Amino acid sequence: MEATFSQFYKRTPEQRLAILAETLGLSEAEQQILKHRATQGDAPLLIENYLTTYQLPEGVAVNLRVNDHEYVVPMVTEEPSVIAAASNGAKQLAKAGGITATVHSRLLTGQVVLSDVKVYASIDDWIALHQNELLEVAKQAHPSIVKRGGGPKSIRTRDLGEGFVSIDLVVDVKAAMGANMMNTMLEAIAGVVQNKLHHTTLFSILSNAGDQSLTTATVSVPVSQLADQPDKAQQVGKRIAQASRIAQLDPMRAVTHNKGIMNGVDAVVVAMGNDWRAIESAAHAYAVTDGQYRGLSQWQLEDDQLTGTLTLPLPIGIVGGATKVLPLVAINQKMAKINSPEDLMKLIAAVGLAQNFAALKALVTNGIQQGHMKMQMRSLAMSVGATPSEVSVLTKQLSNTDDPNEAQARQLLGQIRNNKET
Ligand code: MEV
Repeated sequence: MEATFSQFYKRTPEQRLAILAETLGLSEAEQQILKHRATQGDAPLLIENYLTTYQLPEGVAVNLRVNDHEYVVPMVTEEPSVIAAASNGAKQLAKAGGITATVHSRLLTGQVVLSDVKVYASIDDWIALHQNELLEVAKQAHPSIVKRGGGPKSIRTRDLGEGFVSIDLVVDVKAAMGANMMNTMLEAIAGVVQNKLHHTTLFSILSNAGDQSLTTATVSVPVSQLADQPDKAQQVGKRIAQASRIAQLDPMRAVTHNKGIMNGVDAVVVAMGNDWRAIESAAHAYAVTDGQYRGLSQWQLEDDQLTGTLTLPLPIGIVGGATKVLPLVAINQKMAKINSPEDLMKLIAAVGLAQNFAALKALVTNGIQQGHMKMQMRSLAMSVGATPSEVSVLTKQLSNTDDPNEAQARQLLGQIRNNKET
């Protein structure tokens, strides 16, 4: 696999597609969809007031090794350097044996909220007494999920104070993201609460907390791998661990640390047709679990190993919703070998960890700008209208210019074109 993707970044889009088609067995029809960047499938029916299809670039990160398997990871992002960093981080972590990822559980929680409750115990007792009946009502509201081996698992109450009570329903949603089935079940329970308990409900809605869908990715990197000379390698390991520690101590840094992780996470979540706002909300809520906003990952240096751990709430799905409507999602699932929601959860957590490793290593060594500069020069070249054949020449010239701007880029592009003509 490594040889196949060697110098992958130097290939043309057509060559990359040919490599992926051969390696991953993409059909002629699937290749056509990847080539045509027109409206996908039933996208116009997915939203209201449809006007056009907004497109974001999709690339693939390579070299990712998770639980002893190698993955190609489709990523959708507008940010230069994200995919390069993910691939680069993944390659270094693969050399160390790869990432281990574990799904702790995969359940969804929803809330039926009551207001103006005088005595919490009376609600709590009634729900405890009727829990089997309520679970049955939830099952009847969405029988197909029960047939698929999932469905409502438990129900409990929480006193939120100020007369508010939350009735929490936990559901096994199987391969779906589960928002619709959860909301249907909650509304059915709310009906029973209103009719039998005679208490009006304020609202019923799933929770995006995702704390019942946690996934952990871990990796141990021999310090010797971090630089050519042992002293330098030890220094880099220590500095990565220190950078990670700062994200535990300082919320201002933690936000940027986590943004870097979400660069990778969101790019995969979008490629897989999932609700990235839900994943973002869940991740940031999880980052503040103990009352202070902290980095989602931690890197520790012990003896000759640098060990990184990232735990994320990942309530994603692989069926239904946009995953069904957008044909690219099915191809992306195929390229990433996603057969279950757990596969996807592990892959996303692993990408987040690789992305974070690459960012921290760059930050504490050469600084982030060195890698970013080239990509920024490329963007500048493209923004002044350089054609694909002109981009690399102009990028090189801009890289040799002090503090290049748009006017200089236009001027240099003009010179390139004049030279061609003469
Ligand atoms: C840039 O998009 C992400 C970083 O700022 C992340 C980080 O600082 O850890 C490089």
